[in-house]
Amino acid sequence: MSDQKKDNAFDGERVSRCPFAPFIPPYPKPHKTKSSFFLRFFRGWHSWLHVLFEKSYSMRMGEIRQPGGSVFMVNEPKWVKHILVDEARAFPKHDLMHQLLEPLLGVSIFTTNGEVWERQRRLVDQAFAQARLQLVFPAMQESVAALLSRLDKVADGRDFEVDGEMTYVTADVMFRTILSETLAEVDAKSIYESFLQFQKHAQRASLLLMYHLWSWPVRFACQKPARKIRRILSEIISRRFEEVKQSGGTSKQDILSGLMEATDPVAGDRFTYKETVDQVCMLFLAGHETSASALAWSLYLLSHRPDLQERMREEIQEHTAGGDLSFSAIRKLRLTSNVFREALRLYPPVGFFVREAAQDSTIRDKIVPAGSPVLISPWLIQRHCDLWERPDEFDPDRFDSTDGKESSKCAYLPFSAGPRVCVGMAFATQEALLILSSIVRRYKIEPVKSHEPRPVGRVTVRSDNGICVRLKSTFSSL
Ligand code: HEM
Repeated sequence: MSDQKKDNAFDGERVSRCPFAPFIPPYPKPHKTKSSFFLRFFRGWHSWLHVLFEKSYSMRMGEIRQPGGSVFMVNEPKWVKHILVDEARAFPKHDLMHQLLEPLLGVSIFTTNGEVWERQRRLVDQAFAQARLQLVFPAMQESVAALLSRLDKVADGRDFEVDGEMTYVTADVMFRTILSETLAEVDAKSIYESFLQFQKHAQRASLLLMYHLWSWPVRFACQKPARKIRRILSEIISRRFEEVKQSGGTSKQDILSGLMEATDPVAGDRFTYKETVDQVCMLFLAGHETSASALAWSLYLLSHRPDLQERMREEIQEHTAGGDLSFSAIRKLRLTSNVFREALRLYPPVGFFVREAAQDSTIRDKIVPAGSPVLISPWLIQRHCDLWERPDEFDPDRFDSTDGKESSKCAYLPFSAGPRVCVGMAFATQEALLILSSIVRRYKIEPVKSHEPRPVGRVTVRSDNGICVRLKSTFSSL
């Protein structure tokens, strides 16, 4: 790591030395010092990002003492790798995640551990292999065509909230690729609103669970929105099970068929109906909410950099000559890819992961007793002032610089790492590149000066007051 980076302590030097209109997007101003126990609770009720203090962005490891035992926060790349990759079995997922997400995801690979997880991952990997990226690309293109026709109606320079539309298009991609169905507008709205409700209650429940306080009423409140989402999905799945029962098979070549047909090479069994519903709910949620968050932030960031949009259009033109954004053209869009990576760095949708020390361990010089929660936060690591130059600045070109390349090797983990790495990383990247390049090619994205997003940390990193931009047609390639 360069000396310059080591010297770049949190002192206002976190921001720009870039000569081209540097843009520092909003994030909650960290508190000067660590909050007291009660303040932490009060601030965290709304958003975990609002508990962070200045040192959080420069420390290598922290210990948060609270009733029932300490919580450990690990930022140092060497130890992050130890926990997520080298000794992953010694740091399984914490039960807190299961308790929080169970109403929505059931017993699915996102939260299980040990042999249950191993079997589920084997079956899900089989199903997912069927959805090879090239195979799902036409379904993604159909979702994007539908998105553009919706956006055309608002591309007259009016203030426009992008969060809902990004949730709609990513949920539609999931519907088409997992279930071979299109998503009705009424269901898209219901899913969007239900998940916002779920996030709000889940953030509060996580705090109560972390503090060993009585969480039942808040967890109960999570159940209603979760049931709404599960009902929409399970109706489709049960129709498919019925079809297979009646006719002995299905003509659909989607991820749901893959899940129903996958056979465990070890135990020789398949997912039951209930297990299939859980895995589909998990894939749907893990797959669309994260991508929607990353895309909405990407558009907001781009709205402040018309120069980048112009360069992206030139790059798109170079690789498509005004034709289709094809499967192979998407892979050549280096700048679009850097924009997406930078949005994931500044606003990682999954802002922290919770692991549990399976036995007493030593991390750096600290004893971490068995059962302790160990937090790893892409939000903090990707904005850490020892690990990134100008960590708060939006600068997609950093990924082509020597320093940026070095930082991204050790301090970039929006999709996690190790055996629990995101199943949908390549899928999500392909989807995002297609959506971003299609939007930038067709519209100029302008900021709404009177509306600054307020990032909050809940299940995903979202804006509390939405994300607004203005779209204006570029009149090209229409
Ligand atoms: C920008 C989009 C996405 C981001 C940032 C993202 C991020 C992540 C992260 C950080 C994890 C690990 C969480 C942890 O260790 O606690 C994860 C796990 C997972 N993701 Fe994604 N994800 C994205 C899109 C997707 C998509 C599109 C799918 C599927 C279609 C997907 C499916 C999964 C699954 C199944 C897991 C659980 C893996 C396991 O534990 O074995 N994700 N994702």
